[in-house]
Amino acid sequence: MLPATMLDPRSFADVDADALAAYARAHASPEDPLLRELAEETRRRAKSPQMMTGHAEGLFLRALIRMLGARRVLEVGTFTGYSALAMATGLPDDGEIVTCDVDPEATTIARTYWAKSPHGGKIRLVLAPALETISGLAGPLDLVFIDADKRNYVAYWEACVPKVRPGGALVVDNALWSGRVLDPQDDDSRAIAAFNAHVTGDARVEHQLLGIRDGLMLAVVRRAA
Ligand SMILES: C[S@@+](CC[C@H](N)C(=O)[O-])C[C@H]1O[C@@H](n2cnc3c(N)ncnc32)[C@H](O)[C@@H]1O
Repeated sequence: MLPATMLDPRSFADVDADALAAYARAHASPEDPLLRELAEETRRRAKSPQMMTGHAEGLFLRALIRMLGARRVLEVGTFTGYSALAMATGLPDDGEIVTCDVDPEATTIARTYWAKSPHGGKIRLVLAPALETISGLAGPLDLVFIDADKRNYVAYWEACVPKVRPGGALVVDNALWSGRVLDPQDDDSRAIAAFNAHVTGDARVEHQLLGIRDGLMLAVVRRAA
């Protein structure tokens, strides 16, 4: 089903949301065969396959990379490597993605699939708590994609924003958290709601919460006036 935020409720009140979502999927570029294989293997082998971003988000991130002319990308939360590989396919040959995770098992699947891709050499995995990796990483970055432990979202944001070049962007996953941000009842839901409020109060960026999959916070770092 398409997230409600993508739809104007007045225009789509009587429309079958599943049929409309299928229509939207049918009018997007097809998934690369290797990414499809990786998604299938993740569903078969990974412990929490629902954590994977997938085709819609992969296409969006790749489009952003192309539009920004990005060369230096940071990803927080690798898992089985879908979003890293989707982004790498949009990077130029001298581009690099540093991607952070702490899970050696899921990232073994990632490494296997990156090795099969001509774009895999652009990805550098750092297996360590992401805040450590970010603090040792020099800017400027063109794009940051945050998709890891929700309770650290504000800390990741604060560590990353100063390293993103003016006009560069941050994308943060799960910003709608299946709708639980409206009435947060658990720690992760409260963390995401607090994160969205934090970004909304941050004058360094222009931002919008997009209804792609589970919600993407898209923020562009302002240029000096
Ligand atoms: C939602 S998944 C990432 C999904 C991935 N972007 C994709 O497209 O499939 C979140 C990942 O964050 C990782 N993670 C959790 N805490 C972390 C930390 N402190 N530092 C780095 N990674 C962490 C988890 O191990 C998990 O693999």
